Amino acid sequence: MVKVLFVCLGNICRSPTAEGVFRHQINTKGIKDGSTHSVFIDSAGTAGFHIAASPDKRSQLTALKYGIDIGDLQARKVSLQDYSDFDYVLAMDNENLSNMRKSCPAKHHHKLHLFMSFAENCPGITEVPDPYQGGIDGFDTVYDFINRASQGFIKHLENKQQL
Ligand code: 4NP
Repeated sequence: MVKVLFVCLGNICRSPTAEGVFRHQINTKGIKDGSTHSVFIDSAGTAGFHIAASPDKRSQLTALKYGIDIGDLQARKVSLQDYSDFDYVLAMDNENLSNMRKSCPAKHHHKLHLFMSFAENCPGITEVPDPYQGGIDGFDTVYDFINRASQGFIKHLENKQQL
């Protein structure tokens, strides 16, 4: 099994979107996910501001435009246990990554990556920008970047024979 954790700041905009998009993309390929399947997917935030909250309505509506329902997800904070439980811990931006580098034991640092590092044909784009304070357009950008990173990440897993 490969276990993937998507991480942003609040776990209500970017990382639940990434969780939903990646799940949708692998399910479309006929690969099921969950604790009894070959892929396990979750998301979390480096901050605990929104614990137990549903994804932001703007993220929910943006994902629904593409047929992806993330309404059932619930925010939680990244835990120390996550670094041993997951194989990939994918940060949406450099701030999330550097915060996790401080709390993640050194033996698990190799699991931490910027999610956009897997995106193909996105030269110069290294982060999924925080859309929280901005307008709805920012959520379309987030979706677009996540969609591309997720496709590239699936290729990476296929190349490593982890899918
Ligand atoms: P996210 O967006 O990290 O993509 O979930 C944010 C959500 C909430 C806040 C900041 C970013 N906040 O400051 O409450």
